[in-house]
Amino acid sequence: MPRSSSSSTAAPAPGNVASTPSARDGSRSAHRPNRWGPWSKVVVFLLALVPLLRLVVYGLTDQLGANPVEFITRSTGTWTLVMLCITLAVTPVRRVSGMSWLLRFRRMLGLFACFYGALHFATYFWLDQWFDWTSILRDVTGKRPFITVGFVAFVLMTLLAATSPHAVMRRMGGRRWQRLHRVIYAIAVLSILHYWWMKAGKNDLAQPLIYAMVVAGLLGARVVWALRRPSQKQ
Ligand code: HEM
Repeated sequence: MPRSSSSSTAAPAPGNVASTPSARDGSRSAHRPNRWGPWSKVVVFLLALVPLLRLVVYGLTDQLGANPVEFITRSTGTWTLVMLCITLAVTPVRRVSGMSWLLRFRRMLGLFACFYGALHFATYFWLDQWFDWTSILRDVTGKRPFITVGFVAFVLMTLLAATSPHAVMRRMGGRRWQRLHRVIYAIAVLSILHYWWMKAGKNDLAQPLIYAMVVAGLLGARVVWALRRPSQKQ
């Protein structure tokens, strides 16, 4: 998934790390040797698999509740959104804390968001719809608008995942690639809309509201920084 400097790149755009406070003032976090690099990636990878493992264990021990398909759909949907929020949080947390090493996890986290999105979509078309393509097409083309919106978000996610390798970035050119990967902001907004719309029908907006505030904060911070940038140069 996305790796743009402003959203989710493992490799920061030119000058990106150097412009962090820690790098500017030469603090230790920016220059610490990368001793734990490979191991920390393995740890994050294993942690990101925990929600899937939990589903497998629940499935094997008959703990998925009265409606297992609904449980799996909701769990994978929630983790898609959580992974998306964590991916979007990397840049703001890095900027505020100076922990530039966080960038090394961003691409993996973004790909995990897409992975859980794929499981979510597969649960829908396989376990929920049993490959009834006519019904799926009807849902996706507007019969159930929250599904239309979720589908668009997922298609955009797969586009970012497909263009995430370094080789693709080199071929596209850094600027074009970064511009494309800003689509992650639209994905976040569409995901909130998907969740909101689904819950609005049930008059239960408490949780979508929390996620909406998190996403608004993560995107709002970027807007504020973008607006401040020219005045900082003077
Ligand atoms: C980026 C993409 C997506 C995200 C972030 C996302 C997220 C979510 C979330 C958070 C929920 C609610 C979980 C809960 O109730 O706790 C949900 C439910 C659901 N989503 Fe998605 N979703 C996405 C894409 C899709 C796609 C592509 C489809 C199908 C085409 C889909 C179909 C559904 C369905 C059927 C439900 C459950 C509705 C119900 O239980 O009544 N979603 N999704």
